[in-house]
Amino acid sequence: MALTLTGCDQQPQQPAVTGGSPVATPGEIVVGQYGSLTGSEATFGQTTDEGVRLAVEERNATGGIKGRKIKLVTYDDRSNAQEAGTVVTRLITQDKAVAILGEVASTRSIAGGRVAQQYGVPMVSPSSTNPTVTDIGDMIFRVCFIDPFQGTVMAKFSHENLKLTKVAVLYDKGQAYSTGLSNYFQQAFKEMGGTITAVETYKGGDPDFSAQLTTIRNSGAEAIYIPGYYNEVASIALQARKLGIPNSVPLMGGDGWESPKLAEIAGEAVEGCYFSNHYAPEDERAEVKEFIAKYKAKYNGVTPGALAASGYDAANILFDAMGRAPSLSGADLAKALAETKNFKAVTGLITINKSRNADKSAVVLQMKGGTPVYVATVEPPKK
Ligand code: PHE
Repeated sequence: MALTLTGCDQQPQQPAVTGGSPVATPGEIVVGQYGSLTGSEATFGQTTDEGVRLAVEERNATGGIKGRKIKLVTYDDRSNAQEAGTVVTRLITQDKAVAILGEVASTRSIAGGRVAQQYGVPMVSPSSTNPTVTDIGDMIFRVCFIDPFQGTVMAKFSHENLKLTKVAVLYDKGQAYSTGLSNYFQQAFKEMGGTITAVETYKGGDPDFSAQLTTIRNSGAEAIYIPGYYNEVASIALQARKLGIPNSVPLMGGDGWESPKLAEIAGEAVEGCYFSNHYAPEDERAEVKEFIAKYKAKYNGVTPGALAASGYDAANILFDAMGRAPSLSGADLAKALAETKNFKAVTGLITINKSRNADKSAVVLQMKGGTPVYVATVEPPKK
């Protein structure tokens, strides 16, 4: 077996299987999904999976694809990049998935995407935004914008809307997403004439951020940009307020803040703070209203966040391509995915561009009373 991903000779653990038997009955088409159903970013995988399952259910209720039902096989990667590679291998070699949905976190999409590319099986990430994900090769797609744009969104918002000139940055050096977004934000903010007063780092799972926050407090920053994932952002927010950085110094971030856990853990500490995201439930478009109604009916009246919407969109765009493709071979599916044009998705009108990404607008949300509330839309640069 030629496929070694990490050069690590540890025995991979058995992945957890959800959604019933992974063995397809004859006639079913297997679509694989991998995600963080447990671990440090568990809400990412769980809510994405809710959107994906809604899409599968709807497609199967209207006849499936080419007269065949879709069989979704989902594996938990436990928020771990090495495990992401292992479970994607399993989806392809054992379950014979014709296409893969996942992941959310860019570092795990890179690990899983390398496997999918090597086997020639198309993968669609709902929401990984680091540019290198789709650079892996012609089998790797995403239905969201990328971070060179997302970084400019908060730079522009803080400069033009909040009129800030001095911002500090604190990012997770263990995540491709966080490192990338930190760089793109700094570059854009400086180009607009702003000053970056301090750049500090942490690693996922770190419990104590007081050294970094003390440096940042003393740097005279008017705001702190933290392009991390929700667990650490929540701890950082709590510790920042304890160290005397008041709520009038807002924390700002990217889509990695998206989780009900953020406000649950951080409460008042994130009140008034801002982050960029893929969608706002306040959007008046028919696709959004319809999706919210269907999602609420299926999932106990909960309003879907961006991850559920992105999961739903990724699955529907994949199914649409599967329906148009002359066969379910990797090459035919990839070609059909690449031809996706003006697809009316929940998170916006989606056209897959030459780099297998989507050019879409972003929204800025503000935490109010523990809920992210829509503030602004930022359009991508015109080509
Ligand atoms: N964009 C993030 C990444 O690439 C993942 C993410 C997307 C997190 C949407 C939350 C919401 O790592």
